[in-house]
Amino acid sequence: MNHTLDGQVAIVTGAARGIGLGIARELKSAGARVAIWDLDVKEFDAKLAGFEADHLQAVDVSSYEAVERAFATTVDALGHADILVNNAGINGPVAPSWEYPVATWQRVLAVDLNSVFYCCRVAIPHMRARGGGRILNVASIAGKEGVQYISAYSAAKGGVIAFTKSAAKELARDNVLINCIAPAMVETELMKEMSEAHIDASKAKIPMGRLLQIEEVGRMVSWIVSPACSFTTGFTFDLTGGRATY
Ligand SMILES: NC(=O)c1ccc[n+]([C@@H]2O[C@H](COP(=O)([O-])OP(=O)(O)OC[C@H]3O[C@@H](n4cnc5c(N)ncnc54)[C@H](O)[C@@H]3O)[C@@H](O)[C@H]2O)c1
Repeated sequence: MNHTLDGQVAIVTGAARGIGLGIARELKSAGARVAIWDLDVKEFDAKLAGFEADHLQAVDVSSYEAVERAFATTVDALGHADILVNNAGINGPVAPSWEYPVATWQRVLAVDLNSVFYCCRVAIPHMRARGGGRILNVASIAGKEGVQYISAYSAAKGGVIAFTKSAAKELARDNVLINCIAPAMVETELMKEMSEAHIDASKAKIPMGRLLQIEEVGRMVSWIVSPACSFTTGFTFDLTGGRATY
C-alpha cells in the first residue's frame, strides 16, 4: 500500500455487511478510525469482520433528521470526520418500468439517491470548515448503462453520478474531493440465491470473464479517499473488468 489514512476518521454507510464492510476493513487497515453506519448495526460482527469498529451508528440514511443526528453523534464520539463513503443501498424489485410499484420506486430513490444528498448535506460544511475531506459515492454500472427491469435502481445510481459531478465542481477549490465508483456485479453471499445461468450471464458481459471481488472494491476506495488521490474530482471510477470502457 502506498498511501496512509493515519489520523483520519471515516464514516461508511451500510457497512454492517457486504461491500460496505469490505470498504470499512480496507480503510481501517490503512490507518483510519472507522464509524460504521447501518440500519441494522447488530449485523456487524467484529470477529467475522476481522476488525473492531471505532463507532457503531444505527441510522436510516433515507431520513434527513436521522442523518443529522447520526453525524452529530459520530463527530461527538470520534472528534471529526474526514472521509464519507456513501455505500448504503437497496436493489428494489425486478419489474418493467410501466408496472413498477410507485411506493417502491420512491423507497429506492430515497435510500439510493436522497441518502447520498442527505449525508453530503451534513458532512460537507464540516469538511469545508476543517479545510478538506474526501467523499466517495457507490454508484453502479446500472447508473451508466440503464439496466432493464431495474429502472428505479438505474435512475437512482445515474442520479448519484450526476450529483457527484455537480458537487465536485462546487467544492473544487475547497479541498473536498468527491468521486464515485461504478461496480459491476460483486461476488457476495447473495450468489447462493442466484441460478448458475444468471451468474454465467453476468460473467459473460464482463471481458475479464469473472465477477468483482469485495477486496478489489475496498482497495480502490481506500486509494480514492486518500491524500494520494489529489487531482481527480467528480469522476466515476470503473470497476467492471472492461465492460464499461467509458
Ligand atoms: N452487490 C453488487 O453486485 C453491487 C454492484 C454495484 C453496486 N452495488 C452497490 O454497492 C452498495 C452495497 O451493496 P451490497 O451488495 O454490499 O448490499 P448489501 O445488501 O449486502 O448491504 C447493504 C447494507 O446497507 C444497509 N442499508 C440498507 N438500507 C439502509 C438505510 N436506509 N440506512 C442505513 N443502512 C441501510 C443494509 O442494512 C446493509 O448492511 C449498494 O449501494 C449497491 O447498490 C452493489
